[in-house]
Amino acid sequence: MRQQLRIHPATAEHEEDIIRLALANHMFEVGEIGGMAQMLHGYLDGSLEDHHWVVATRADDVVGAAYYAPEPFADRLWNLYFIAVDPDCHGVGAGTQLLGHVERALQDRGEDVARILIVETSSTDAYANARGFYRARGYDEEARIRDFYGPGDDKVVYWKALTNRTPEPAHDAGTAGVTETSAHGLVDDAPVGAGEVLRDDHQVNRFT
Ligand SMILES: CC(C)(COP(=O)(O)OP(=O)(O)OC[C@H]1O[C@@H](n2cnc3c(N)ncnc32)[C@H](O)[C@@H]1OP(=O)(O)O)[C@@H](O)C(=O)NCCC(=O)NCCS
Repeated sequence: MRQQLRIHPATAEHEEDIIRLALANHMFEVGEIGGMAQMLHGYLDGSLEDHHWVVATRADDVVGAAYYAPEPFADRLWNLYFIAVDPDCHGVGAGTQLLGHVERALQDRGEDVARILIVETSSTDAYANARGFYRARGYDEEARIRDFYGPGDDKVVYWKALTNRTPEPAHDAGTAGVTETSAHGLVDDAPVGAGEVLRDDHQVNRFT
C-alpha cells in the first residue's frame, strides 16, 4: 500500500484525531485523557511555549502524531512525550517518519538548542514493540526506574544524541515492497519555533 504522508504542525482541527490515536492504541482509557488534552490545549493556545505537536496526514486523515518539548532542569535535552500511529497503519513507516521529523527539526535548530532527545516508555509487554522501535532507530536504553508506573511496570528511558547526524536506518516496508524515503512521499513542512519551558507531568510521561 502506497502511503502519501505529510507531516505538519497540529492545529485545533486535529485535536479529536490525536485523542482518537491515543485511545485506539490503548495508551489511555477515556477517563485518563485529561492530562493529554491539557498538553494539547497548552500547545494550541500558545501557553506552553516551544512545545510541538505534529501530525502525519494522508489525504485529510490523521494517521499519526508526535509531541515533543524541552525537558525542564536539563541542558538542551528534549523529551518526545508522545508518538502514536493509527493501529491500521502500524509497521509501514509512519512512526519512523514522525520520529525522523522530530529529530531533524531539533537538529536544524543546532546544538545550542538541542543536544539530546529522550523518550520514556513502559517495561510491560504491551510496549515491547515501542521499545524495539526506539532501539532500531538508534536509541539506547539509558535508565530504568523500577515500578514507576505500578508494580512490575518500570519506566524505561531511551536516549539519543542529536549532535551527530547519522544516516537514518532504512525502513523495510515489508509487503509494501517500497523504501521509506520513496514509498511514503513525506512532505515535511513543520516549522520549528523558539522558546522553552515545560511543566512535567507523570501522566504525560506515561503516554510515550
Ligand atoms: C511505536 C509506533 C509509534 C511505531 O510506529 P509505526 O508506524 O508502527 O513504526 P514503523 O512502521 O515506522 O516502524 C515499525 C518498526 O517498529 C516496530 N514496530 C512497532 N510496532 C509495530 C507494529 N504494531 N507492527 C509492526 N512493527 C512494529 C517494528 O520492529 C518495526 O521495526 P523495523 O522497521 O526495523 O522492522 C506505533 O507502533 C504505535 O503507535 N504504537 C502504539 C503506541 C505506542 O506504543 N507509542 C509509543 C509509546 S512509548
